[in-house]
Amino acid sequence: MTETVKIELYADNLRVTQAIATQLAQVITAGTIILLEGNLGSGKTTFMQAFGRALGISTRLTSPTFTLIDEYTEGRLPLYHIDLYRLEPSQVPSLHLEEYWRGEDFPLGVVAIEWASKLINIPPQHLKINLSVPMRSPSCEESQNIDIDEEYLEDLPEDRLIQLIAQGSSYVEMLKKFQISTAPCAAIELR
Ligand SMILES: Nc1ncnc2c1ncn2[C@@H]1O[C@H](COP(=O)(O)OP(=O)(O)OP(=O)(O)O)[C@@H](O)[C@H]1O
Ligand SMILES: [Mg+2]
Repeated sequence: MTETVKIELYADNLRVTQAIATQLAQVITAGTIILLEGNLGSGKTTFMQAFGRALGISTRLTSPTFTLIDEYTEGRLPLYHIDLYRLEPSQVPSLHLEEYWRGEDFPLGVVAIEWASKLINIPPQHLKINLSVPMRSPSCEESQNIDIDEEYLEDLPEDRLIQLIAQGSSYVEMLKKFQISTAPCAAIELR
């Protein structure tokens, strides 16, 4: 059975999310696969921007929604930032993402994939990061009017639930090294 560890963190504002990403970047090793999941605006790209900065990338990461794959080679490790939002799952194999973690065609680095739920073949060993906005229950009237548009995203609170789930022994080891010193409000659950 694959070894698994899950850490659940609560970020009550943007800076806590950024601190968590920074902390994670400090323990990350070459060959790491990060699968990012969460709704539109939950903070996947924002998380990766802080992560990239902490790796030593001086240019601000932009969302790869249209470029699909952005490669950054300036930091402590190469970072391959991918966004599958615009693709159908059946189109993903043609990207040959495995080339990024095989370490033959590209220098081994960190592969971070937004909308990773579109992957048909999930690499068995990985770190999954789930971001979500803990919502208060809307009234019946409100719930009929909820529409994911720009206004909805602007009105989102800053609270985020961040789950880090390590699958596989090397990922479990990495997550154990990850300690939150910058987020005193974070509740950590290990199991
Ligand atoms: N605690 C927080 N953590 C992360 N982002 C936050 C937080 N509070 C507010 N935000 C804001 O939420 C927005 C998140 O947008 P972002 O583009 O990172 O989402 P995303 O998950 O990548 O969306 P998409 O699925 O469209 O790629 C940003 O405007 C960010 O500033
Ligand atoms: Mg994004």
